[in-house]
Amino acid sequence: MTQIFAYTVTLGCVTILLSLCRVVYNRIHYITQRNARGCGVIKKYRGYDPILGLDFVLAMKSALNEHRWLPWQKEIFAAQNSKTFEANFFGSRMIYSSESENVKAMSTSHWKEFGLQPIRYDNGVAQPFAGPDTSTEFLFGESLNSLTHPEKAEVAWAMVEVMRGIRVRLQMSKLLFLHHDKKWLDAVALVHRFIDNHIETTFEQLDERKVEQKDSKSSSEEERTDLLWDMAKQLPDKLALRSQILAVFVPSNDTTSIHIANIFFALARHPHAWAKCREEILALRSAPLTFEVLRGLKYVNWVLNETHRLYPNGIQMKGDIVHCNRYLMHRDPDTWGEDAEEFRPERWEEIRPLWRFVPFGGGPRICPAHILVATEAAYVLVRFVQRFKDIEARDEKPYTAVMRIGPSNLNGVKIGLVAN
Ligand code: HEM
Repeated sequence: MTQIFAYTVTLGCVTILLSLCRVVYNRIHYITQRNARGCGVIKKYRGYDPILGLDFVLAMKSALNEHRWLPWQKEIFAAQNSKTFEANFFGSRMIYSSESENVKAMSTSHWKEFGLQPIRYDNGVAQPFAGPDTSTEFLFGESLNSLTHPEKAEVAWAMVEVMRGIRVRLQMSKLLFLHHDKKWLDAVALVHRFIDNHIETTFEQLDERKVEQKDSKSSSEEERTDLLWDMAKQLPDKLALRSQILAVFVPSNDTTSIHIANIFFALARHPHAWAKCREEILALRSAPLTFEVLRGLKYVNWVLNETHRLYPNGIQMKGDIVHCNRYLMHRDPDTWGEDAEEFRPERWEEIRPLWRFVPFGGGPRICPAHILVATEAAYVLVRFVQRFKDIEARDEKPYTAVMRIGPSNLNGVKIGLVAN
């Protein structure tokens, strides 16, 4: 008995000693690397709990729950009086930065050192975005049509829940194993079923094609051109296929629609910008809305940029450690001037922000759909502007970001439109 006790104590002491050695080694390695690369010392968030950083975690949790996430970020950066700081988050060292040079380094020169997801590069997932003909139906070959088919809205609502849950899971960090969220798991199961059904149908159709080809019959139906169809031909493993499809389904979910809603939110509060869009768009007369025409609309594209700047809604660039804050970068008076908080598309006439404006990230990791998004948003705006001469806000509520995987407006977008 005494021997077992002695062994246990020795084992415990050795474990503690090894952990301490690891901490010391990591610290020395970090300092050596920092000095070798000529990096400065990162400012530390001074919390009350140096071990788990619980005060920081709880402040973040209440900011999220009370939909104060974005203003809270602003406050916390201002309180540090620095564009980069580190904080202890459940025992992990997290670095928060709104410094454009960091985004640039992480996205270009040092991108390989920052948690590259091979999923995006090795399997062709990003390739279908290359063509300008890409449509919203590109994933499964059929539109969800959730507005006209309420039974299909189920998966759209489940995705809202999935996005909320992913955000919470990211926040849980090392303590994720303590987190059980039944609502989230149910939503994930529903989305999996939805995708699995599409996968089953796709494989059945592929089999039918093979049989037809073997019998040298030509198919009566046109070949599908969606992402799932192409990927299913290359990836027979259904589980892997579902993961690959999800890698696009999640970041594509509601991002463009939220961006378009934000455009209308801003324009309804800035009628002069609507009038300028109208001037530019009506000058097109009946010209077909080709990709080139849409991309060439100067003022419309300023409106798109200004909306991205003030109301960011892409997924966050967040791994275990570094969190780059686009929201603060995009409202930094050092870049945008004293009126940084104002919606003023005209600022784009002169400003060339380069890495200080990164709604889609940049470098090899840039959002593969950024051109698709800009084209779709411009198209929707142009069609509305052609049909309606005025736009009015129908509520006084300010933009309040509710955080799922990216922010969207808590109060929705209530507007009125006056027909020509
Ligand atoms: C307003 C709309 C959108 C914004 C602002 C946006 C923004 C972003 C950002 C910031 C990233 C991370 C880039 C980085 O790591 O540096 C990203 C990644 C990605 N986006 Fe988008 N995005 C939008 C819409 C879409 C759409 C519609 C799709 C698909 C059709 C899409 C597909 C992807 C994919 C596949 C990734 C890579 C995700 C990964 O690495 O796992 N995005 N997006």
